[in-house]
Formats: sequence, C-alpha cells, structure tokens
Amino acid sequence: MRHLITISDLQKQDVYAIFSKAEYYLTNSTECLYNKSVINLFFETSTRTLTSFAIAAQKLRASVINMPVQFSALKKGESIADTIATLHSISPEFIVIRSGNSGIPFMAAQESRSSIINAGDGCNEHPTQALIDAFTIKSLFGDLNGLEVAICGDVLHSRVAHSNIKLLTLLGARVRVIAPPTLLPQHLPDGVKKYNNVLDALKNVDVIMVLRLQYERMKKSYVASSAEYYKCYGIDVTKLECAKGSAVIMHPGPINRDIEISSEVADNNHSVILKQVKFSVPIRQAIFDFLSSFV
Ligand code: NCD
Repeated sequence: MRHLITISDLQKQDVYAIFSKAEYYLTNSTECLYNKSVINLFFETSTRTLTSFAIAAQKLRASVINMPVQFSALKKGESIADTIATLHSISPEFIVIRSGNSGIPFMAAQESRSSIINAGDGCNEHPTQALIDAFTIKSLFGDLNGLEVAICGDVLHSRVAHSNIKLLTLLGARVRVIAPPTLLPQHLPDGVKKYNNVLDALKNVDVIMVLRLQYERMKKSYVASSAEYYKCYGIDVTKLECAKGSAVIMHPGPINRDIEISSEVADNNHSVILKQVKFSVPIRQAIFDFLSSFV
C-alpha cells in the first residue's frame, strides 16, 4: 500500500516511472482500475483537479464517487476524522482528498486500507499538480536539469509552490522565488534563491510559474492592495521581456487576470497554461496506475 501525500514520498525513479506511464496515457489507456473504487473527497472548491481526477479514474475503468461535501454528514456535525473513518470502512481502493487544513491527507493515511492521494492540503502540498507542472516542462524542454525556473507570487500560502520547489529541485532545475517579503516563507530549501524585485528575478529565466494571491488563506493583510501588487509583481508583457525570449509562462489556475497576470501574457504564445490542464488527465492516470501496483 502506498500513498501520495507529499513529493517527499517519491524517489527520482518513481517520478520517471510516473512520467513514462503518463507518456503512454497521452494516447492509450488501460483497465488497471477495473472493479476498483475511487472516492474524491473534496472539502474545498475545485474545477480542474476534481474533474481531471474523475476523468482519469473513469478512463481506467474505476467506479468513481465524487463526494459532495456540502451534502455529506459533515453538515450534520460529523468530524472530518469520523467522515474519513466511515469511508475507510467502505474500503475503496483510493481516496483522493482536498482540504483547506494542512495534514488531513496525512492523518487519513494512518492505518488506512485505502491508498490516499493528496489533491491539495491547506498551504502545505499539492504533489499531483507539481507532477503535472514538471511533466509539462519536460515535454517542452526535454530535461529539467539546469533549467532556471522562477516561481512568482504568493509562495507563502501556495501548496503548489511548496511541492514544486521539492520536485523541481529533485529533478535538477534551479529554482528562484519572487514575491513581496511578506509573501515569502522564512525557510526555503538550500539553493532556492529569494527575490523581491521581479525585473532582477526574471533575468535568464526559462520558465515562469505564476501564482494566485490566496486571499482565502491569509489571516491578515499581506499586500497593500491587489492593484498595487499587480503594478509591482503582476506579470505583464514589459516584465516578461526580462526573461529569455524562449521563456514559457505557467500557472496552476485558477487565474485572476490583472492581479497576478495580464490577459496579454496569459493568452499569448509563451503561455502553456492550457497544456498543463491537458496533461492533468494522463498524469493522474499515471499516478493511479503507479500506486495501484502497491495496493
Ligand atoms: C491550485 C490549488 O488549489 O492549490 N489550483 C489547482 O489545484 N490547480 C492553485 C490555487 O488555488 O491558486
């Protein structure tokens, strides 16, 4: 039994195994989840993550239950722990969990008979999104080793950034983070460079990952205003000119136009944002396939 709670659960060879399965799933499918059940338990809103997990599981022939948390027993006062214990007793092969609180998927994985996949927990991690992002970069550049990747935006609250920093570093990319000082974590892994000035930070960059301001996770005011933030940190065509001419723009979505990114940048030919969404299905098929060999 294996879970995917954090990027730290994976060795480099696991990542390459998932990538090679995803290559296969780009044009083929298997029935590796035939007769198996997947419960998507989402305590937070989601568009692309929930639908791509559901489609990936269906393509692999699983029975898929999307748990509408707003209609569940949680609304009758049941705790998250009791809800998870209840679902464990039904024994699905997989439970995919998204939660606003960090640590819920980890808690669910303790003594679980189901394989738990973290679909984003609070500000902590979002390992499957990082796998999509690294796979997208690999499809464009061939190899991540030595690439300069800038992660720009609300790094402090971004589970996508935290998983990406781990995964990109594991695969040999050089990572820099760009944000106002209030939105950068105090501690970052060795080798990750911190910048507060976008124009300096984007020099010689191959990949720019833009992040949303995660107001829903902010306990106090971290920026003067959205307009002020956009002026200094929003990625527009002028700022993009500082990066390499071949640089690509990524964003895990949802995009807030004219807050962290201009429409011109989000929609221009440097943008691979919809490619990331396209790869979300084969990568999630690959993750189910990889984990099911340990069930
Ligand atoms: C992200 C998330 O939920 O962490 N979105 C996603 O899963 N694609 C990023 C965000 O909400 O800003």
